[in-house]
Amino acid sequence: MKVLILGAGCREHIIANRLAEDSEVYAIMNVLHPGISKISKEYLVVDYSEVGRIKEWIEKREFDVGFVSPDGLLAKGLSDLLKQAGVPIASPLKQAAKLEWHKGYARDLMKKNNIEGVPKYKAVFGIEEALGFIKENKEFVIKPFGLTGGKGVKVKGEHFHSEAEGLEYIKELIDEDEGALLEEKLEGPEFSLQGFSNGRELLFMPPVQDHKRAYEQDIGPNTGGMGSYSTGKLLPFMNEKDLEDGKGIMRKVMEVMRKENNPFVGILYGNFMVTKDGIKLIEFNARFGDPEAMNVLSLLGGSLSSIFLDMCREGELKGEFSEEASLVKYVVPEGYPVKGKKGEEIEIDEKGIKELGCDIYYGSVYSENGKVYTTPSRTAAVVGKGKDLYEVEKRVEKAISFVRGNLFHRKDIGTKELVEKKVEYVKRLKRNLKGF
Ligand code: AMP
Ligand code: GLY
Repeated sequence: MKVLILGAGCREHIIANRLAEDSEVYAIMNVLHPGISKISKEYLVVDYSEVGRIKEWIEKREFDVGFVSPDGLLAKGLSDLLKQAGVPIASPLKQAAKLEWHKGYARDLMKKNNIEGVPKYKAVFGIEEALGFIKENKEFVIKPFGLTGGKGVKVKGEHFHSEAEGLEYIKELIDEDEGALLEEKLEGPEFSLQGFSNGRELLFMPPVQDHKRAYEQDIGPNTGGMGSYSTGKLLPFMNEKDLEDGKGIMRKVMEVMRKENNPFVGILYGNFMVTKDGIKLIEFNARFGDPEAMNVLSLLGGSLSSIFLDMCREGELKGEFSEEASLVKYVVPEGYPVKGKKGEEIEIDEKGIKELGCDIYYGSVYSENGKVYTTPSRTAAVVGKGKDLYEVEKRVEKAISFVRGNLFHRKDIGTKELVEKKVEYVKRLKRNLKGF
């Protein structure tokens, strides 16, 4: 099979690797990605806004499947472009990806169709409306409607501390954006549930927990995700019902979209919170999570290319996941996420990492004259899997010592201490006790 992939980060690196197991990979990327370029049969390095050049390159070749990976490209309608160029696609069209690129759309769709798990919310377009919501919900969260790489959401008590401070941000969003989404503030640990969708049914992947905060003990600014782990069918702080409820919500959303003639074909990603009142939907993504893709794709048995093919032709989705634990830790440039240092040379001893049974995927880096340099975003991810999460964690830490540069990572992700803290957190929430 000939498979085309768009995107150039860690997530796309593992996708391309898995595709290359039984297919020819063709890649379109905005920078020369050191990993993807190595495994691709052919690639095009291009600014994604050069739609004409992209189309011309695609039309000169024939692909069995195309996959647009990053959210920004889905929101720009690159899947639509592929479709117009005659490529069967396993990623959502722009209108279906609206589930991610417009937070109000996803909320309204759920509410209108009585799908459970929606927090109290209001889309506001003026200050009066905002004041009305805040009066009823003293603890609230402010979200831009659009994509912000996980960094635009502000939570009261964490990112702003008074109503007045919150109103400043809401005003800014009303002035500069079209408005803002306000939500009640929920409490609880989060999990990511991803499913392959052919528009009709979902093949679920194991749940994963990401760590969005930049620093250890879950403090500091939000990031794209500093690392993630999975422990088989369930995460230690969830129960069967949490998982089944999450699956139910995702299935219903997919069904509604199909009925509305806006079928969702691609990776449907639900970000859920385990609260004292059951699970709530925090947001949907229309793509693999990054880092979560590296957890699930390390565990997937069988052919990713075949799943992609079945997704775009409404075929039966077949795939199994090993029930081992998996762990991903990102190394990021000093200063990330506020002002990550760019242009810093990094050195990676891939052999040393492999010898520990771990893998390395390149993120937002570029290569020049055979050397690899940082950009302000996440640099590389080290991935391990095995029977026991805590053993894997120790191995991944050792493997990270083979990545050299002006970088940092979170040492606490996947440790017993942090995992047990989350379990304790849910117990306390369910007993109605405050605090983490
Ligand atoms: P999002 O971009 O919607 O995933 O939000 C980023 C992060 O903000 C989430 O992962 C949560 O940690 C936090 N967050 C979002 N919505 C809420 C909410 N309603 N209550 C509490 N925290 C939230
Ligand atoms: N890891 C969070 C995301 O991909 O949005």
